[in-house]
Amino acid sequence: MKNNVLVTGGLGFIGSNLSRELMNKGYRVWVVDDYSNSKLDPEDFFKTPVRNLVSALSRYYDVQTDPKSPKIVFIEADFNHDAILERISSGFFRKVFHLAAKPRVEWSVQNPMEATDENFNKSLKLAIACATGNCRLIFSSTSAVYGNTGELPSTENSKTAPTSPYGLSKLCCEQYFELFENLYGLDWVALRYFNAYGPGQDGSSPYSTAVSSWCSKAIKGESLRKDGDGSQSRDLVHVSDIVSANICVSEAELNEEKVFNVGLGKSYTNNYILEKFSSRGYTQITEASEREGDVKHTLANIDKLRALGWEPNVGFEEGLESVFDYWGL
Ligand SMILES: NC(=O)c1ccc[n+]([C@@H]2O[C@H](COP(=O)([O-])OP(=O)(O)OC[C@H]3O[C@@H](n4cnc5c(N)ncnc54)[C@H](O)[C@@H]3O)[C@@H](O)[C@H]2O)c1
Repeated sequence: MKNNVLVTGGLGFIGSNLSRELMNKGYRVWVVDDYSNSKLDPEDFFKTPVRNLVSALSRYYDVQTDPKSPKIVFIEADFNHDAILERISSGFFRKVFHLAAKPRVEWSVQNPMEATDENFNKSLKLAIACATGNCRLIFSSTSAVYGNTGELPSTENSKTAPTSPYGLSKLCCEQYFELFENLYGLDWVALRYFNAYGPGQDGSSPYSTAVSSWCSKAIKGESLRKDGDGSQSRDLVHVSDIVSANICVSEAELNEEKVFNVGLGKSYTNNYILEKFSSRGYTQITEASEREGDVKHTLANIDKLRALGWEPNVGFEEGLESVFDYWGL
C-alpha cells in the first residue's frame, strides 16, 4: 500500500517517462489516462506485464491477489472518475503526480470554457481528494503563468501575467492549492516547467512544440514552419530533467516553498534551433505569423529547485542530439 503512486496523464509525453522512472525506483505505479493525447500501448512502452482496469473496478482492485503482480496498473479513464477520486480519498496512494491536462495554448484561447473545465475545475476535485486521502499532490504547472512580463530570468516570485486560459488555469490551480493547504491541510507542490522536449515527444499534432514538430516535418521532407521572425527564445528542458524534478520534490521535506521553476537556466532562439536543422541539410522553411497567446521569451531561474538538490543534467546540444537520433535525422 505505501508504495502505490498515481500518475494522471501517465501515458503522455512527460507522464510516461515519469511513470517508467517511478516503476524503476520500485513504486507500484497506477497510471490513469483517457487517451485524449496518447497512442502508447502501456505493455509495449513499460516492457512489463500491466494490469488494465476498467475505471469502476479501480475502487476495489487488490494487487496482492493479482497473479500478474503488476508493477503498473493502467486505467483508461478520466482522472476525475468517481472511482479514482474515491481511491485517492481513501488514503490508498502515497503520492499523486498530476500531469493530465489539455496543455495547448492556442486551443485554450479558442475554447476558454472547455480549457478551464479540463485544466482547472477537474484539478480542484483531484486536490480535494488528495487532501482527504493525506497524500502529496505534485502538480505540473507551467512557465506560461509568467506571460510576457519581460522580467527575465523568471523567478518564482516574478510577476505573473498569463496570456492564455491555459496559463491562467494553471496559476489559479496553484492559488487554490495554497488555499486548500490552509483550509484542508493539502500537501502540495507545483513545478513550473519551461519548454519540455526529448525523444518520444509527438511531432505530428498542431500543438507539438517546435523541436519535435520540426523533426516530424524534416523526416517527411516537408518544410519547417517558422512563426514570426524566429527570434522568440525558449528555455528548453529535457524530459529526463523534468522527471528527476518530480521525483525530487515528491521525496523532499518541504517547508513553506511550494512552487518551483523547472528549466535549464539557458534559452535558445527558434532561429538557433533552425540552424541546427539547416546544418543537417533541412533548410526548407515556411514563414507564418506568430501564434496567438504565445509568449515571446522564456528563461528560468532555477536556484530554488537547486537548493533542494536537483540539477538539470542534459545540456541543450546533447539533448537535441538525442532527439535527432530518436527521429533518425
Ligand atoms: N510539454 C511541455 O512543454 C509542458 C510545459 C509546461 C507544462 N507542461 C504540463 O505538463 C503536463 C504534461 O504535459 P505533456 O507535454 O506530457 O502533455 P501530453 O498531452 O503529452 O500528456 C497529457 C496526458 O494527459 C492525458 N489526459 C488529458 N486529459 C485527461 C483527463 N481528463 N483524464 C485522463 N487523462 C487525460 C492525455 O491523453 C495525455 O496522455 C501537462 O499538465 C502540461 O500542462 C508541459
